[in-house]
Amino acid sequence: MSIELNPGSEVKTNTITQPPIRKRVFSGIQPTGNTHLGNYLGAIRNWVAEQTHYDNIFCIVDLHAITLPIDPQELHNNTRQMAALLLACGLDTRYCNLFIQSHIHEHAEMSWILNCFTPMGWLNRMTQFKTKAGTDLDSVGTGLYCYPVLMACDILLYQTHYVPVGDDQRQHLELTRDLAQRFNTMYKKRVFTIPEGQIREVGARIMSLDDPTKKMSKSDPNPSSRITLLDSPKEIKQKIGRATTDSERLVTFDPQRAGITNLLGIYQLLTGQSQQEIEATFAGKGYGDFKAALTEQLVETLRPIQQRYNELMSDQTMLDGMLKQSAESVRPIAAKTLQTMKDVIGLG
Ligand code: TYM
Repeated sequence: MSIELNPGSEVKTNTITQPPIRKRVFSGIQPTGNTHLGNYLGAIRNWVAEQTHYDNIFCIVDLHAITLPIDPQELHNNTRQMAALLLACGLDTRYCNLFIQSHIHEHAEMSWILNCFTPMGWLNRMTQFKTKAGTDLDSVGTGLYCYPVLMACDILLYQTHYVPVGDDQRQHLELTRDLAQRFNTMYKKRVFTIPEGQIREVGARIMSLDDPTKKMSKSDPNPSSRITLLDSPKEIKQKIGRATTDSERLVTFDPQRAGITNLLGIYQLLTGQSQQEIEATFAGKGYGDFKAALTEQLVETLRPIQQRYNELMSDQTMLDGMLKQSAESVRPIAAKTLQTMKDVIGLG
């Protein structure tokens, strides 16, 4: 069975004879399963919404996924599932390249080189490492420590202008910019484009459903803390029903009431309504009414994504072909940047 990618969507034709030079967007996502509403609202949805404006490269970062233990079969399956899910969410291969990080060996090679130029003090400041490593620093792999350097390489290899991500990647992006600037200055050559983050004001930090002081996360041991993109309507209803709120009854945005405000923020992103409109809709109503409306919005948003995902997953040959073709088309960019880097250093 062969699946047409994004059937029915209109091909944009350019009437200007000289096509405009588009700025490059790069972003990545780990194939660690449990892709959730935070990933969707904080990143994926924005990639899709703006894909026609940029020259887009999206990467499934399997080399990052092995910085913590992961079953081989699970990693392999998750990688294909992630590709299908991103296409199902609306990434269109006419505007985007979507490839698997380990298919382009320049990522790993540049990562070694850039590690040699990264002060340990800079990595010691990375808060995600501290959270992920926990207290057992003797047994955690050094890959986890160097994770932000590999992420910097992903971005810098493609001379990226913009990096659309959620708020949790802010510190990694700052490190990327610092590393690029330092390297360019050290060798008095503009080897790397200095990238800018694109972090939205709303949606960049979707919080956990059971503890709204923590961000929604793939690795939270409690599955009720997140809505995954593949959750059934029943699971969504249960999770939203159990989501932590408070003893007040007002359906209003209030930073002091993190639970209800997080749910309202999700509703706002899904409906596109303003805070005032939402508060007016639920004036005089309680949390039960609001949660029912939110559940409906979520089910209706995820239904077409899940339908398309199932269609795409039934054609693995198409998925593998698309991933391979994308890697082939962007690899020359990575190879060129790495060669320039090696030349200025004097390698080879
Ligand atoms: P990852 O796989 O954890 O998450 C993918 C994207 O989802 C965003 N995100 C969130 N946004 C809002 N609320 C949340 N609760 C939430 N949780 C996750 C993340 O910010 C991210 O944009 N290190 C990256 C992957 C990566 C990358 C890169 C990203 C590797 N190389 C180069 C950009 C550029 C990560 O672990 O994302």
